[in-house]
Amino acid sequence: MAKLPILEFPDERLRTIATPVEAVDDEVRQLVDDMLETMYDARGIGLAATQVDVHRRVIVMDVSDDQSRPLVMINPEFTPIGDEREPMQEGCLSIPEYYAEVPRALKVHLKALGRDGQPYEMEAEGLLAHCIQHEYDHLEGVLFVDYLSVLKRDRVMKKMQKRHRQMQPA
Ligand code: NI
Repeated sequence: MAKLPILEFPDERLRTIATPVEAVDDEVRQLVDDMLETMYDARGIGLAATQVDVHRRVIVMDVSDDQSRPLVMINPEFTPIGDEREPMQEGCLSIPEYYAEVPRALKVHLKALGRDGQPYEMEAEGLLAHCIQHEYDHLEGVLFVDYLSVLKRDRVMKKMQKRHRQMQPA
């Protein structure tokens, strides 16, 4: 397994729309394993392939308290269950140290392929439902700051640009 570099906002590559996985082969399984390692290492609860500059429809997630329950979603599709929406504080490995409330569907029905290539379906709510919607957005080139006001988004952009300037070698 290998840890992969994570793209950071406002990198334009985060705006790429990911393409479906045609076959869950060794290469895809390797990507899944590398993404899980990258996510756990960064102490995240979700990661989309887009964030590691691979523009295929692959998501990994683990919302358990002890990071013991990895979830793999290949070619995920979801539909909200009911009209209920709730705001929840979100963060993103591509926008470090920034958090904001985003309203999303409280419950969703998910269809995806697992690491074994087998289709599965599940219902999710609360944190898991939020996470699914957040990661799915990445595959569509959407970031959670897109839901904020232009003013707030500009502030995040300036903060990130400053961070990237500081990270440049002298
Ligand atoms: Ni994210």
